Amino acid sequence: MSAGSDAAAVDLSVEIAGVVFPTPVMTASGCAAAGRELAPFLDVAGLGAVVTKSVLLDARSGRPTPRMVETPSGMLNSIGLQGPGIDAFLAHDLPWLVQRGARAVVSIAGGSLGEYAELGRRVGSSPGVAAVEVNISCPNVEERGLVFACDPFQAGRAVGAARRGIPREVPVLAKLSPDVTDIVSVAKSVLEAGATGLSLVNTTLGLALDPHTLRPVLAGVTGGLSGPAIRPVALRCVWQVHAAMPEVPIVGIGGIRTGLDALEFLAAGATAVQVGTVTFHDPSAPERVAHELRAELATRGICSPRDVVGVAHREPG
Ligand code: DHB
Repeated sequence: MSAGSDAAAVDLSVEIAGVVFPTPVMTASGCAAAGRELAPFLDVAGLGAVVTKSVLLDARSGRPTPRMVETPSGMLNSIGLQGPGIDAFLAHDLPWLVQRGARAVVSIAGGSLGEYAELGRRVGSSPGVAAVEVNISCPNVEERGLVFACDPFQAGRAVGAARRGIPREVPVLAKLSPDVTDIVSVAKSVLEAGATGLSLVNTTLGLALDPHTLRPVLAGVTGGLSGPAIRPVALRCVWQVHAAMPEVPIVGIGGIRTGLDALEFLAAGATAVQVGTVTFHDPSAPERVAHELRAELATRGICSPRDVVGVAHREPG
C-alpha cells in the first residue's frame, strides 16, 4: 500500500494468542461495567472486544464514597471492586455480550490464590469468552502486600492459579501494575506461569487532597490514577517489555484518547490497545479511536496494525 491510501483498504484485524479481533481497540476494564451502558453510544459488536469490570467470586458494594475524583490530567478512583459476583455475571452480563456479537474479555480479580483458581475454573468453563484478563494489580486493596503484581513470585502464583482452569485455546492476559521497579521481571514470571499475553498497565497509586480541608478527598485515601497523566508511563512499560520479549502479545492501556495515541502504543510494541478513562466524557471513544487509527494507518500507507507493532524499536532508515 502506498502513502496516502484509502482508509477502506486498511484491515484492522489483529491476532492475540490465536484469537482474531476485528480491530485492535478494546474497552478498558472498569470504565463501563459489562458493556451495557455503552450500547446507546456505540456498536459493541464492532469493537475489538469489551473488557468487563473485574469480577470477584462474591458480590461486593465496594469502598465508601467519595470514591472518584478528577485531578488536573487524570482521574483517581477507589471503587473497591464493586460488582455482582461471578454467578450474576455469568448468568446476566456475559450472555448479554455474547448475544450482541461482542467479544467478551472477562477480567477476574481475587483476594487469594484459591479465589483466582475458582474464578479461572468458572470463567474458563463458560462459552463465549474470547479471553480472560487476570487483574493482579488492583491498587485499591487494604494492604499493598495483596497487590500480587508488585512481586514477581506472587504475580506468577496468582496467574498460574487462574490459568489452570482455563482451556488452552482461551488467551490469558495478565494485567500488570506500573508501580514496580522492574516490570520485565514481573512479565517474565506471569508468562512462565502460563499467561499468553500481557495487559500493560493498570492504574498507578495516587492521592488527592481537598484544598480546603487538606484532607484526602477519597474515603479510601489513596486511589488508582488513570487518564492522560499515565500515558507516558504506560508507553514506557510497553516499550520495556516489548524490547525484552518481542514475541509476547501486549495490550497497551493508559490514557489513550485518540487514534494517534493508539498508534504510538502499537509502535512501542502493543498488538492491541484499551480505551478507558476518556469514555467518561466521550462514551463513543473506543469506536472513534478505531476510526482514527484506521485513518492514521491509511495516511501512512500502512495496510494493517500488525505492520506497525514495535516499529519504534527499529533503527531509522
Ligand atoms: C479498581 C480496580 C482497579 O484494577 C483499578 O485499576 C482501579 C480501581 C477498583 O475497583 O477499585
